[in-house]
Formats: sequence, structure tokens, C-alpha cells
Amino acid sequence: MKYSKIIGTGSYLPDKVLTNFDLEKIVDTTNSWIVERTGIRQRHIAAEYETAMIMAEKAAREAMVVADITPDEIGMIIVATTTPEKMFPSTACLLQQRLEIAGCPAFDLNSTACAGFMYAISIADQFIRTGAIKNALVIGSEVMSRIVNWTDRSTCVLFGDGAGAVLLGASHKPGILSTHLHADGTHKDVLSLNHSIGKPMDVEEELFIKMTGSQLFKLAVNILGDLFDETLKANSLQKSDVDWLVPHQANIRIIQAMAKKLDLPLERVAITLEEQGNTSSASIPLALDKAIRDGRIQRGDMLLLEGFGGGLAWGSALIKY
Ligand SMILES: CC(C)(COP(=O)(O)OP(=O)(O)OC[C@H]1O[C@@H](n2cnc3c(N)ncnc32)[C@H](O)[C@@H]1OP(=O)(O)O)[C@@H](O)C(=O)NCCC(=O)NCCS
Repeated sequence: MKYSKIIGTGSYLPDKVLTNFDLEKIVDTTNSWIVERTGIRQRHIAAEYETAMIMAEKAAREAMVVADITPDEIGMIIVATTTPEKMFPSTACLLQQRLEIAGCPAFDLNSTACAGFMYAISIADQFIRTGAIKNALVIGSEVMSRIVNWTDRSTCVLFGDGAGAVLLGASHKPGILSTHLHADGTHKDVLSLNHSIGKPMDVEEELFIKMTGSQLFKLAVNILGDLFDETLKANSLQKSDVDWLVPHQANIRIIQAMAKKLDLPLERVAITLEEQGNTSSASIPLALDKAIRDGRIQRGDMLLLEGFGGGLAWGSALIKY
């Protein structure tokens, strides 16, 4: 039986940091409101030259160093991003050229929003399991600061920029045990960016993220609870078998509810929300890379990754690291 396994991770965060106190000067908000309602204290903001591709390249190069593989060994590149540099060529193709990887399939997942990384890692896993490819570069990279309305306090305080990369390699020992993807278009209006191509925009706000936060909060807690049950059941495992939760970083209260659902103390949850905010499809690989680099996540640990976002779309992966 063939598995895919995490063989390297990397990340990149822009230098510029925007604190809640900085935001107090931009919109009608307070540090205490943001911390209490979300758990976020600061976020990184890309400089003008930093695009999803530039940040993806830095994260990818780090992951390649850890995995000790050369560009020609990479069999597929998937970039999950809601904020691509161009509609096409894809961020993944631009990256392929920068990394001098000839010929391998390369594409973006643009529309699965904050669930993008879960979809991307699941697709890469399927290709490796079937033996079609040996190694895949899976990246989440986002410049959310360019699609938030900086006059809307209910959304602009939430998001940040950054990139995280995971290199998957073929293995005969268990790595990714299972992935689970879902979507439900009936919730399409809860979180959206309605910018249409080829259609004149009616209102300027179509350029920016729109969200009904409280509704999304409730949906996320219910959806993710069911997703955990499904993921554990598929592997005949118990909550107590999970060593680490690596969640999408949207709100500390959602993360706390999910840790409780798994009976995990918060020390066993990879959390970057406080310093990074919600970096959409980059948040899971960023949290994973941080916990691996600082030695909290160790080889052999059982990881449960989960993400959800606009669509709604959501997904999980159970991984023996
Ligand atoms: C966005 C979120 C933090 C808002 O928290 P909430 O407790 O639901 O707050 P509400 O939206 O009900 O707003 C409560 C009040 O705070 C106000 N408010 C909103 N943003 C504010 C801010 N930044 N500062 C101060 N007040 C703010 C609202 O205007 C509202 O005021 P009102 O009662 O006078 O109308 C929370 O709903 C959330 O995190 N939801 C999930 C979002 C998510 O997961 N997004 C990512 C998906 S990938």
C-alpha cells in the first residue's frame, strides 16, 4: 500500500506587522474588542512587491531544503490562493518557472477560499497514492490585505498575509491516512467576494470580502464537529488517538470549541492566530510549519488538520507525521 507523507514544510510572513492598536487608528474598533471576540493581536501585511507567488516561492524553497529534494524531483505543484497574482498564468505556473521545474502539472485552487489548502493536499495525496507522481509541492499563499475593505471593521480586523508550504513524498509507511472534503452551496452568501469577470460592477463593495460573521461562526462549529466524527470513524480511531489539532485560524473561540470536541488541551493545538490573524488558505500550513520547526510536533504524532471557508467548503486530513 502506498501513502503520501509530509517530507518538508516551509513558511513565509511579510515583515510589516499591523497591530490591533494600529487598527484603532484606521477603523472604529478597540484592541480589547478584537482580542476578546477573535483572539487576534496582530497580522502581517504584504509590501507592494509581495504577491502570492513571491511569498509562495519563499515558503516552497524552505520546504525543499527540509525535504532535501531538487526541483526536478517535484511531480506536481498546487497553490491554494484566493488572491492570485493573475487570473492566469496560475500562481503555480509562475512558481514552476521560478523554481526551474520543467513539465510537471501545476495549477491553482482559487475558489475554495480558506478551505483551499485542505482541498489541495487531498488532491496531491490521491496522485501520490495511485503512483502517478512521487512528490508534490502543496502551498497556501494569500495577500488577504488586498481584498479586505479597510473601512469595514467587521472584516478588516480578521485577516493577514503569508504563505505556507508542504512537500509530500511517496512512502510505504502510513503518512496521510485519509482526507475528507465537503461543500454546501446553499450557504453561498455567508462568505463571498462577488467580483465578477466580464460584468460591470454595481457597487464598489463587490471588490471586497463580505461576511455574516455570527452565522458563519455557528455553521463552522457544527460542520467541523461532524467532520471530526467522520474523520475518526473512517480510520476506526478515538479522540484520544489524536496528538495534535492543526486548525484553520479564523477565531480562537471556534478553535477552543474544536479542541473541546476532541478533549484536547489548547497546548495540543497549533495556534498562530494571535500573531498572524486569518491568512485563509495559508493558515494551516503556516501553523503546521511553526509547530514542526519549534519541536512541538514530533515524527510519529497523529495530526488532525481541518479547514473551512467560502462556498461553504470544508475538509480535513488525518496524518501520521
Ligand atoms: C466576525 C466575528 C469575530 C464577530 O464576532 P460576533 O461576536 O459574532 O460579533 P457580531 O458580528 O455579532 O457583532 C457584534 C457587534 O460588534 C460590532 N463590531 C463588529 N466588528 C467590530 C470591531 N472590529 N470592533 C468593534 N465592534 C465591532 C458589530 O457592529 C456589532 O455591533 P452592534 O451589536 O451594535 O450591531 C465572529 O462572528 C467570527 O469570528 N465569525 C466567524 C468568522 C470566520 O470564521 N471567518 C473566516 C471564515 S474562513
